[in-house]
Amino acid sequence: MRSFIVEKKHKLSDIKYDHFGTQVTNTKTEYCCRGLIVTSCFLFVCASAVICVALYQNGMWGNSHISDISGSLQSRVAERVISCYYNMPSEHATDELMPSGINPNLCTHINLAFAQVVSNEIRLEPHQYRTIIEMVKLKHTNPDLKILVSVGGAGTDKGFPDMVLNHKSRKTFIKSVKYLLRNHSLDGIDLDWEFPALHNALGGGRERQHFSQLLREIRMEYIREKRDYILTVAAAAPQAIVDVSYDVDQLNMYVDYVNIMTYDFHSFTKYTPFTGLNSPLYQRSTEQLYLATLNINYTIHLYLDKGLDRNKIIVGIPTYGHTFSLVNVDNHQVNSPASGFGSLGSLGFINFPDVCAFVTNTENVTITRDNEAKVSYLYKNKEWVSYEDPQSVMEKAKFIIENKLGGAMIYSLNADDYKGECRGAVARAGVAGFPLAKIVSKTLKSHISSSEQNMSLVQRRGH
Ligand SMILES: *[C@@H]1O[C@H](CO)[C@@H](O)[C@H](O)[C@H]1NC(C)=O
Ligand SMILES: *[C@@H]1O[C@H](CO)[C@@H](O)[C@H](O)[C@H]1NC(C)=O
Ligand SMILES: *[C@@H]1O[C@H](CO)[C@@H](O)[C@H](O)[C@H]1NC(C)=O
Ligand SMILES: *[C@@H]1O[C@H](CO)[C@@H](O)[C@H](O)[C@H]1NC(C)=O
Repeated sequence: MRSFIVEKKHKLSDIKYDHFGTQVTNTKTEYCCRGLIVTSCFLFVCASAVICVALYQNGMWGNSHISDISGSLQSRVAERVISCYYNMPSEHATDELMPSGINPNLCTHINLAFAQVVSNEIRLEPHQYRTIIEMVKLKHTNPDLKILVSVGGAGTDKGFPDMVLNHKSRKTFIKSVKYLLRNHSLDGIDLDWEFPALHNALGGGRERQHFSQLLREIRMEYIREKRDYILTVAAAAPQAIVDVSYDVDQLNMYVDYVNIMTYDFHSFTKYTPFTGLNSPLYQRSTEQLYLATLNINYTIHLYLDKGLDRNKIIVGIPTYGHTFSLVNVDNHQVNSPASGFGSLGSLGFINFPDVCAFVTNTENVTITRDNEAKVSYLYKNKEWVSYEDPQSVMEKAKFIIENKLGGAMIYSLNADDYKGECRGAVARAGVAGFPLAKIVSKTLKSHISSSEQNMSLVQRRGH
């Protein structure tokens, strides 16, 4: 019962917040709740009132109003978010993943990566507009699919510092976003600034506040427009960045959900010349202090402690891995000395099909599972690779379910085995095409517990 009430509290705050998104139903709900709170009633009384008002508004158990209700929050309760990044093909793509190659039912949200900020406006290349048009056609098959444009991305987010600086430049940006969404029938934007206040020593202190202001102003513009557009942020995982870059309470107030980039915890750099796991779920017992914070579990609890609602937490799951070159072939544990990137993949990154091909085509590759971090790594001679396999992504999906989080973010569709070529030791029988994304998607979709189903019933009517 206790947890039931706690759950209710989350729902109520959502409903209140969502009220700003235009619904008359919600306005009444809001008044009702405020009145009750003023007369100091209990949360569950208020929750009952929400149900009553909503039932009254929508007709007993009728669902005729569901479709015209702010899409994201409601659908997030009915089903978890599966937010997939898709790197748009280059201009003269020949052998790249094209929109027509994406199963429209695999993800609930697709983030088209990446648009840039140029002269304070959102900017895409002409060939990227063609991709957007192709992508939006997937809605013919799955009308519930949401398509967002992701702005920024690692190393390509140069326009953010100038744009957020003052109200006028933010306004220019927001206007350009509005046109983009409207002109192309898109569902929202995802801001992927890596990272506010981190690089800019002078303006740094204010960048965090300016970013919060930007989020607020975008939300207000959506409301003014009476649109149920989606606003999300791709946010950092390491605490050192989270502390500097975000006002998490503001994120919580203005975004629909946060795609937390819980990967790249370890990769080869000259400052970290050691083997390590890209996306460990839990701490390993030999890890102390700072190293003990570099895992998904720690990051998710950090965001929870900072006040991000559970259902706004979208856990990043990579489909790519990191490669290392061992200094000593006999020293092949996690945290062994490395001299550089491995020779597989490219610049230390490796896509899942390349991992698969290596294991299938090479003799005597050793695969080791780290039972604490719940991920695998492999080695052969000097090659050392941290990667995700069907089991590790399944563990991550289960973590999302156990912790009642909002869903999974997958980076990226391109790095998964979208052609379905993977066979052998790291594959799983009968899963062809996007095996990793598919396992995450199936696991999350099949695990809506009965209490959650009841909640979603309440939630739908609450809107
Ligand atoms: C959107 O359409 C308007 C006219 O309807 C046009 O002025 C504007 O340039 C378009 N913007 C984009 C980003 O396509
Ligand atoms: C997950 O993180 C929480 C909070 O930091 C901690 O209490 C818990 O022990 C962690 N779980 C594991 C399995 O490490
Ligand atoms: C693989 O291991 C076996 C047994 O240790 C050995 O006989 C064989 O030569 C190895 N093959 C390669 C290609 O290293
Ligand atoms: C969910 O609702 C069903 C019937 O509506 C009920 O039998 C079940 O006990 C409820 N579950 C929870 C956890 O409230």
